[in-house]
Amino acid sequence: MKRVDDFRLRLGKHELVPIMIGGMGVDISSVDLAVEVARLGGVGHISDAMIKTVSDRRYKTKFVKEKLALYKYNVENEDKSPVKFDLGKLAEATRLHVEAAMTRKKGDGMIFINCMEKLTMNAPKETLKVRMEAAMDAGIEGITLAAGLHLGSFALIEEHPRFRDVQLGIIVSSVRALQLFLKKSSRTGRLPDYIVVEGPLAGGHLGFGMDWAKYDLATIVVEVLQFLKDEHLDIPVIPAGGIFTGSDASAFLEAGAAAVQVATRFTVSEECGLPDKVKQEYFKATEDDIEVNQISPTGYPMRMIKGSPGIGDGIRPNCEAYGYLLDANGKCAYVTSYNREVALHPEARKISVMDKTCLCTHMRNFDIWTCGHLTYRLKDTTRKLEDGSYRLLTAEHIFKDYQFSTDHKIALPD
Ligand SMILES: Cc1cc2nc3c(=O)[nH]c(=O)nc-3n(C[C@H](O)[C@H](O)[C@H](O)COP(=O)(O)O)c2cc1C
Repeated sequence: MKRVDDFRLRLGKHELVPIMIGGMGVDISSVDLAVEVARLGGVGHISDAMIKTVSDRRYKTKFVKEKLALYKYNVENEDKSPVKFDLGKLAEATRLHVEAAMTRKKGDGMIFINCMEKLTMNAPKETLKVRMEAAMDAGIEGITLAAGLHLGSFALIEEHPRFRDVQLGIIVSSVRALQLFLKKSSRTGRLPDYIVVEGPLAGGHLGFGMDWAKYDLATIVVEVLQFLKDEHLDIPVIPAGGIFTGSDASAFLEAGAAAVQVATRFTVSEECGLPDKVKQEYFKATEDDIEVNQISPTGYPMRMIKGSPGIGDGIRPNCEAYGYLLDANGKCAYVTSYNREVALHPEARKISVMDKTCLCTHMRNFDIWTCGHLTYRLKDTTRKLEDGSYRLLTAEHIFKDYQFSTDHKIALPD
């Protein structure tokens, strides 16, 4: 059987090791991780999720404080529609983050940014346009359109001078979603440069309902490949979700995929943005500790470790500081749930909200531990230390294990 290294991914003029590390917000797929993956010849992602808070933490800006100061008067108000993002500052935060990655980039790989449509930010079109255009202005090499159908996303940026030169990809979980995307984007006269097919075992939000377990990645990939063949479309297809070993990856490559997108194994890399103590939670997790639930206000099911501190927490909504999930009318499902609980328990000093979570606050603080289904196998990818903790791995070690391993072997660190 072949190894991943026997294949190459061609994107534009680039010839790459066919390993893409998926975007992981909020700053889990860090600049450090993306730069390292590009050095090794693959494709790394940064994410623009909650970009202003990421910028504050990384580049010493004060965007969140400034926004909160501006809208503090509204904190007790159920109507969050006045809480708008300053588009100039949004562009500035994006620029800082993208430049931090691009100026450090070495090697033959590439660095892309993951842009989720479900971050509707109280003005979905305007904010998404600014996010994508600012990333292109700052030199990003590719944009992966995620968490949404993105039916109008190409049209938002078609006037940008880099629209035809930057790599543009879409994440889909079905042929149907791909067909819709291609149909709606066709009037821009541009096809996606790659298609990530994400199956039901992925981390983060899922493009499936709660019946996700009925679906399987390999079947969807075959359907997508057949559809593209029937339509005479030559677009690289990149499966994602549950590809845990080099052999899992090379099986997809032999079946016609152009590359694979992986993420979970890199959550326990030194370069990953999660705090070290959270990385240990990922190592420790057993299969029973992982669930798909519906507490994300986005409406998509999300996979996470059951012990995530953010589950059930009844914190006051923080939309005046963050507000990334406010829809076009200034609404977020967590705000509704929170207000319901406050009305039901008027005397309580602390309430619990079980059906939704304040995803902005908890992702920002690394208190929702979203993860891929196979997180429970991470403990088998490293060595246990004397104090009972697990040894972190370098991104290089994990990348090369995918690239060179055979027979489903996983190389342990020395
Ligand atoms: C911790 C974590 C966070 C993620 N966050 C995002 C995200 O912000 N946007 C996105 O499109 N996908 C996200 N994903 C999905 C990955 O990019 C990737 O497609 C998928 O997890 C690959 O499957 P694997 O984790 O089994 O390797 C996330 C995955 C993980 C593990």
